[in-house]
Amino acid sequence: MELMDAIRERRSIRVFDGRPVDPAIIDELVDAATYAPSRFNVQPWHFHIAIGAARDRVGQVMAMTTAHLNEYVDILGAEGMEHAARFYADLGTAPVVIGISAKYVEDPTDWLDDTIAVGAALQNLLLSVVEHGLAACSLTAPEWVRDQLVDAFEIPEGAVIMALVVLGYADEEPVEKDRHTDVATYLR
Ligand SMILES: Cc1cc2nc3c(=O)[nH]c(=O)nc-3n(C[C@H](O)[C@H](O)[C@H](O)COP(=O)(O)O)c2cc1C
Repeated sequence: MELMDAIRERRSIRVFDGRPVDPAIIDELVDAATYAPSRFNVQPWHFHIAIGAARDRVGQVMAMTTAHLNEYVDILGAEGMEHAARFYADLGTAPVVIGISAKYVEDPTDWLDDTIAVGAALQNLLLSVVEHGLAACSLTAPEWVRDQLVDAFEIPEGAVIMALVVLGYADEEPVEKDRHTDVATYLR
């Protein structure tokens, strides 16, 4: 697949058909993620892959967030709230949920660098998802259930949960999202 096709075709998918994902494919997604750049090549990421009973435990934690969604009513609107509530109740039946963690570092510049590196790894993973005919959505690890997520993903002491990825085979048509174009300034 051409890189630009994968970049353009990637969409956040929040409804899955429940089919399992071959662990060998998950390994390839993680492999793609590890080619991301990082400061001094520290590779700050770790991928905690929840499948089966572990995925259900993560799902139960995420379902608890539906009680807090009304905090976002101004951003999401009534329809968006309904969508979000449905999605968070069962994570769109995604068979795989990945937690991405990074070891916390005190230095703010290093922490910013590591956060960027995790974002680059996440995007590599999401593009590899497209190449494999899979679908995914990157999620914030919600503050309300952060501790429970750390437990569910068995994230070690000293590491921070940075993001979640729900993953599976799509059972919805991706929505076209507008893209801002006024995003670059040339300085000469
Ligand atoms: C860091 C990050 C956090 C996100 N958090 C959430 C989230 O908590 N819930 C959700 O439904 N989507 C989440 N998304 C997906 C965005 O809503 C989505 O990327 C955006 O609307 C653009 O749509 P697209 O991914 O289909 O291009 C997140 C995306 C990123 C990169």
